[in-house]
Amino acid sequence: MTQRKIHVVGNWKMNMNVLEIKEFVKNIQANHTREIWIAPQAVHIPILIDLQGDKFISGGQDCSDHDSGAYTGEISPQSLVDIGAKFVLIGHSERRQYQKENNELLNRKVKSAIKSGLKVIFCVGESLELREEGSTEATIKHQLVEGLKNITTKEAENILIAYEPVWAIGTGKVATPVQAQEVHHYIRNEILEHLNFKTQDTIILYGGSVKPDNFSELLNCEDIDGALVGGASLNADSFNKLIHT
Ligand code: PGA
Repeated sequence: MTQRKIHVVGNWKMNMNVLEIKEFVKNIQANHTREIWIAPQAVHIPILIDLQGDKFISGGQDCSDHDSGAYTGEISPQSLVDIGAKFVLIGHSERRQYQKENNELLNRKVKSAIKSGLKVIFCVGESLELREEGSTEATIKHQLVEGLKNITTKEAENILIAYEPVWAIGTGKVATPVQAQEVHHYIRNEILEHLNFKTQDTIILYGGSVKPDNFSELLNCEDIDGALVGGASLNADSFNKLIHT
């Protein structure tokens, strides 16, 4: 029997100001039967940590692949740990697209973040074009095999995977539960067969237009252990609904 606890992770991207953050946290109703995680902009992590109490934990949206040094503008994973962050997103499709992050760099980031003591949410997902040409599985396989190359079994214990079809992010177009479950199942098999993941307990999150009205049917799928949520995590009312689904 697996012990997978449902995770609801908010990815605030480049949104929310200090006033909005205060209002948000005040209105969140804790749910300790779920893992609730939020990734604000890095400069807001200490503010969120001051306010969060035991309602949720906070983490980063990205980090450097280096521990320290002459890398202007970068954020070291160790500095995230120093301020109390517990996790970091690596390989979000917006960073793959806008910052041109490739799997080789992402692999170094994953290793560096885990070495510093962070949990990693490693994001994968195909574009609409790749789905339509029938390359969904090949794309995901490539992202997993390259991005998580040489990850040890011990390191793998600190990795969660987020499947986020690029065509569903911020578009209002959610993958159907059948489409999502199919890829989640594929990912679970793939990491067991071809990578050093030795357990069925790896958390695999779905992301892409998750909203209070579509979350419960996604959660009914066997291999979906929660969600990585952008838009619907920016508002306390919808986030409360998600964490109490
Ligand atoms: P969305 O974003 O929920 O707004 O589609 C999800 C994500 O990018 O993590």
